Amino acid sequence: MPEKLIAVEADITTLPVDAIVNAANNSLLGGGGVDGAIHRAAGPELLAECRRLRGCATGQAKLTRGYRLPAKYVIHTVGPVWQGGAQGEPALLAACYRESLALALVHGAASIAFPAISCGVYGYPPQQAVRIALAECAQFAADEPNLGQIVFACFGPEMLALYRSELVRL
Ligand code: AR6
Repeated sequence: MPEKLIAVEADITTLPVDAIVNAANNSLLGGGGVDGAIHRAAGPELLAECRRLRGCATGQAKLTRGYRLPAKYVIHTVGPVWQGGAQGEPALLAACYRESLALALVHGAASIAFPAISCGVYGYPPQQAVRIALAECAQFAADEPNLGQIVFACFGPEMLALYRSELVRL
């Protein structure tokens, strides 16, 4: 399993995978962080397609084309805002990973890259979030042999170190 899951230090907008995942908000109309970077790199056509999607519920995912990105698709998912952990945050975060992977499979995307969903302005404690990300992705990959590589795009050396230390525990 570990060979299917890899962590790299990268700007997710540069990765030549079939689909990249966006840590979006409920409006799907753009924002800061990785969302802003993806919209800037993809170009204005991405926002135009997102407007037609009429938003997305927390824990769900919706797919668009990737436009000027190397990735063919962008899967927009909405992570939970951290409110202390007793408001369903772990289940919602797990659902983001599952729903994104399921959507990738439906569209024939074998390789997929994730950012650390909810670990920026949404305030999820990184170690808890990374454990959920890896557990969900490892389970999904074990159940779905058609899925190729799952890449965790880490923004900075600290996040990379965290993913690598949790990956060896799988
Ligand atoms: N590539 C990979 N990871 C990145 C990049 C990038 N280019 N840029 C930032 N990160 P955040 P959230 C990392 O705040 O917490 C937006 O405004 C970042 O260091 O982007 O889910 C949306 O519109 C962090 O580790 O997403 C929502 O309103 C991780 O990506 C809200 O932020 C996620 O940080 C979503 O908040």
